[in-house]
Formats: sequence, structure tokens, C-alpha cells
Amino acid sequence: MAACAVAASLLLATLLARQAAAELLPPLPVAPLLAEAPWRCRGPATGEHLPSLELAALWGDPPAANHTVTLVTQLTVDRLGMLENQCTTWTLPLVAAIYVPVTGQQVLGSTASTAATVELLQGHLAAFHRRMQQEAQCQLRLALFTEEQAADSADAFHPINALRNRGLQLAVTEAVLVLDVDFIVSEELIAELAIEEGWEALARRIRAGSAVVLPAFETPFDATGAWRLEHPPEAGRAVAFQAQAGGKQAAVQSFRNGTLLVFKTAEGGTFYEPTQFKRWAQSDDFYPISYTPSYEPDMILARALHPWYDERFAGYGWDKMGLPECFFHWGGSFVVHPRGFVVHVPHERSTTFHASMSDGKKRAYQLREVYTSLRAELEAGSYLPVVSFPERCSPLPGHSLRQATMDGSNLPKMQAIQQPMPAAPL
Ligand SMILES: *[C@@H]1O[C@H](CO)[C@@H](O)[C@H](O)[C@H]1NC(C)=O
Ligand SMILES: *[C@@H]1O[C@H](CO)[C@@H](O)[C@H](O)[C@H]1NC(C)=O
Repeated sequence: MAACAVAASLLLATLLARQAAAELLPPLPVAPLLAEAPWRCRGPATGEHLPSLELAALWGDPPAANHTVTLVTQLTVDRLGMLENQCTTWTLPLVAAIYVPVTGQQVLGSTASTAATVELLQGHLAAFHRRMQQEAQCQLRLALFTEEQAADSADAFHPINALRNRGLQLAVTEAVLVLDVDFIVSEELIAELAIEEGWEALARRIRAGSAVVLPAFETPFDATGAWRLEHPPEAGRAVAFQAQAGGKQAAVQSFRNGTLLVFKTAEGGTFYEPTQFKRWAQSDDFYPISYTPSYEPDMILARALHPWYDERFAGYGWDKMGLPECFFHWGGSFVVHPRGFVVHVPHERSTTFHASMSDGKKRAYQLREVYTSLRAELEAGSYLPVVSFPERCSPLPGHSLRQATMDGSNLPKMQAIQQPMPAAPL
């Protein structure tokens, strides 16, 4: 008995010493391609259409603190309530890029029911920002982006990745968490990030080129598999907020008793499997995971090592997978945060979802083709995210960036794809 206890305490001492030693070691060098992520991009080739966004208004100052995480999100005006969900829970810097299609000063699509002109919309958003500064806890920078459209165009395909990039450009802190507006972050993690030890544990990993993954959950009230919610949104919302406030132990219990599910369970996809939720339930330290294609984790990255989103993705589908895949191919690694997680707040499907699925899922299939070519280029080592700010994409001399031509004429043949395409999330 006593010998056993001595052995156990020796083991513990060894583990602690090893951990202390690991913390003293200089960080590993970041993979060269990843270190160049801010410049690794290209402008659109002939025939590649990118959204063309104009910054119409900006509210809120950049935060003074640098050693913290900015939550970066994007939305349409009808989703301000979701932004409010984030603002009432996230106490750190938050950047939100809001999108509205316009003809001149005239607001188009379903947003027009909120405000008919850009000026009216600006008044509406200014009031929202003021109210968030007073009532909510977040440090909100709110940016309104307009896009000129034909006056008779219906709701445009949501320029999701162009907005994510604009949001990233407005973030100034060392770490960023690009998160869809329908997710809220566990209160326990936010509290942990606000203290020095919590920040340092995260910072050490992201500086070394790791993505810190936050397991993503949904409630049984979600519509991810269906076209419409089966329960009133309030029912699922209450469950999501309860999980958000409950911390990891409660989340684990809920996960085990089936009141909290792996995100997109209802869709039957395996997009989140690499996170290893059962291992997370038992872990009290960060653990490494391997990347597999079609993984789309929510993750905290060093802003300086964050690849750009490919702006060809506008509309619903395939927009979220390219970035982790790119991060991985450029030498990034993945670790899971032992306590942090995010929860999806149930809502009805967006207009852009329905638009992408209409006409025999035409748009969704177009986007899948873009994703297929993206994967082929990554395999061939020639991929560069396509962005609307080519002036920021400056190849370094003698670098493999030179191999990628701007007209895409050196795109590899499709046979170059080693791994099978994931099932369509449609
Ligand atoms: C914030 O931190 C990043 C990464 O360490 C650094 O590059 C940047 O210059 C810092 N910004 C400020 C304002 O200190
Ligand atoms: C599941 O666990 C959560 C968290 O402990 C608890 O609030 C909930 O009541 C449990 N539900 C069931 C059906 O056991």
C-alpha cells in the first residue's frame, strides 16, 4: 500500500518536472509556409467572381489589450439577435462584420424590411452598438459592409468568407477566434482566458503554430438535419444558454445523458469527429489530434498565422472546411482545449441557405466544385486563398509561391486528390 503511494507520488513528481521542463524549452519554430500565411493569397483569375464589399460604417474602438482573443463573426442584419447572444456572453474583444446588399442608397433583399436606406440602417446599427456598449459585456467593433447589386436581385448569396476576412482585418489582438454568429462560447473558457495563466497556456500553443480547438455542441432542438425547427426557438435557446453557463463538468454530463450533442449530429456528418469528444470529456490537459479531410473545427489561432479565407465561397456550403485544411497543409497542428467549448443556438435556416439549395442545389454544387479544386491544389502544393485584396499578397523571393500562376493554368488534374471527397453536407 505504502510502496504504491510512494510510486504514485514519484510518478506525479516526474510528470510535473517534465511539464515544467517543457515549459522552459524554447518554442518550436513555426512551419515556414504558415509563418507566411498573411501574404499567402492571390487575386481572382479571369472568370473567378469575388464579392465586392465596401466599408460603409464602423463603430467602436480597437481594444487596448493585445494579449487576448478577439471573437470575429459576420452576419446579415436579420441576425442581430444572435450577435446580441454573443455580446451578452463574450466579455473580450468582438469584431462583427455586417453585410447588406444595396443599389445606391437603397437597401435590397429581406434587410429592407428593417431599414429601407443605408442611412436608416446606419442609425439602427448605431443604436444597437450603443445599447450593447451599455447593456452587454463585449467590447464590440461593428462594421457595416455594403455590396452593390442589381436593383431586381433577390437576396444575394451571403459573402461569408469575404466577410470573415474583413473581420480578421479589423481584429488587432494576438489571438483570434473566427466563429459563426449562431454560436456562444463557454463562460468558463472566457473566464479562463481573462486570467494570465489561462491566456499563457493558450498563447504558448498558438505561437508554436497550433490551432486550439473548441469542441462544438448542439442541442436536440437544432434544425441542422431538417429544414425547419421542430420546437420554438426559445426552447433550444434556453438549453444552449444553460450549457454555455454550466461549465465543462455540466457539459460532459449533458453530453453523456444526451441533452447535448456533437454539432451536426442531426446531419449525420463526421465533420467534428477528429475532436474526440469522449477523450475531451476525460481530459484535464490540452491534447493533440490529427487532421482528417472535411474537419471543420472552431479554433483559436495566432492572428499572425491565420490563413485568409477563400472569398470564392459565397452562399451556403463548403465555406468552413478549406481553412483548417489549408492551415494543416501549411504545417499547422491541432490541439483541443481541455475546458473550452462552444454551443450552437438553434435558429431557423438562413435566407442564403434556402437560396443555395434552390434550383436543384445549383449554388451548393458550384461551391463544392470550388472546394474540390481547392483540395487538389493543396495536395499539389500550389494553393493560395483567393482574396479581394491582392495588394496584400506579396510572394517572397525564391519561394514556392512563385509556382502558383495567377490564371490557374497550372492547376493539377483531379486525379491528384489522394483522399476521398467528404459526403456533401447538403
Ligand atoms: C500584438 O501582438 C502581436 C503578436 O505578438 C504583435 O505582432 C503586435 O505587434 C502586437 N501589437 C501591439 C499593438 O502591441
Ligand atoms: C442531463 O445532465 C444535465 C447536466 O447535469 C442536467 O441538467 C439534465 O437535467 C440532465 N438531463 C437528463 C434527462 O438526465
